[in-house]
Amino acid sequence: MEKIAILCSGGDVSGMNAALKRFVEYSFAKKMVPYFIHNGYEGMIDDHIYPAGYKDVAGIISRGGTKIRSSRSKRFMEEGYRKQAIDNLKAHGIGYVVILGGDGSFKGMQKLSQESDGIRFCGIGATIDNDIAGTDYCLGVDTALNVIKYAIDSIRDTASSFSRAFVIETMGRECGYLTLVSALTSGAEMCLIPEIPYDLERYKTNFQKQIQDGREYFIAVVCEALKNSQEIAKWFENEVGIESRVTVLGHIQRGGNPSVYDRLMAFDFVTYAIDELLKGTECSVVCYSNGGFHTKMIEEVAFQTYKMKPDLLKLGEEYGR
Ligand code: F6P
Repeated sequence: MEKIAILCSGGDVSGMNAALKRFVEYSFAKKMVPYFIHNGYEGMIDDHIYPAGYKDVAGIISRGGTKIRSSRSKRFMEEGYRKQAIDNLKAHGIGYVVILGGDGSFKGMQKLSQESDGIRFCGIGATIDNDIAGTDYCLGVDTALNVIKYAIDSIRDTASSFSRAFVIETMGRECGYLTLVSALTSGAEMCLIPEIPYDLERYKTNFQKQIQDGREYFIAVVCEALKNSQEIAKWFENEVGIESRVTVLGHIQRGGNPSVYDRLMAFDFVTYAIDELLKGTECSVVCYSNGGFHTKMIEEVAFQTYKMKPDLLKLGEEYGR
């Protein structure tokens, strides 16, 4: 029987465990032997590669993180270690590999594909940053957005009991998607992301007018990429004239009970990945765009820049007017 493996690489997301469950079940349905590679690319190098069965995925669908763990592997950048990883895959007789991760993981996947001679690879975008070109959706984003929504709603409760501005810093690396969608869906008064230039003077005029009209608190959602949460909090105190607090949401955004949407997306992503591998495609990525799943060649994804949809950016541009 043919052998197929899966690994998780880079930042974990809620929904990875649902993907692992589907991977085992669908591999068996396709008469293949499923393998788990523990600890991402580090585990591929160190031969932490084990056959997987139903018992390994029982009860994991409701848990965030990844049962097979993840890593950000520096060693994988070196060809010698990649060769070791490929030799391990070959020694196990593994002909297909599914990789859950972000852009960096896909670049690694492409190198593996070029150097492995015959092993097929398929990537699934799994990052709360939602910053992968070619796909509108990456696994884990919905759960992260719901965690942030809950956090901001809670902060609003306390903000509305005082006269204060709350500056809430969200993750996203260099991408403002998580921040913008969170700001919009939490009704924040301010949203700062790298993709949209902002004018603090305009915000100031607007906020001071609102204070004169009786407004008592503000919520500002700021992307970590800008590295200015403390500065914005000081600006609220010194320029707008309102006491402020900073909340850095941090890694809470990556965890939590996976949403129904992420569980379903995990199932579909894995199904498409395995089907694509069985077609014989050498190195591709499963993408979700315009309401459907498609596979794209690695070159169309890994070396392109993700761009947010114009409609979403337009909504973001309304901030601070
Ligand atoms: O890529 C996911 C992400 O959570 C980013 O949003 C964040 O900048 C980064 O990972 C944090 O990385 P680490 O968990 O290694 O500190």
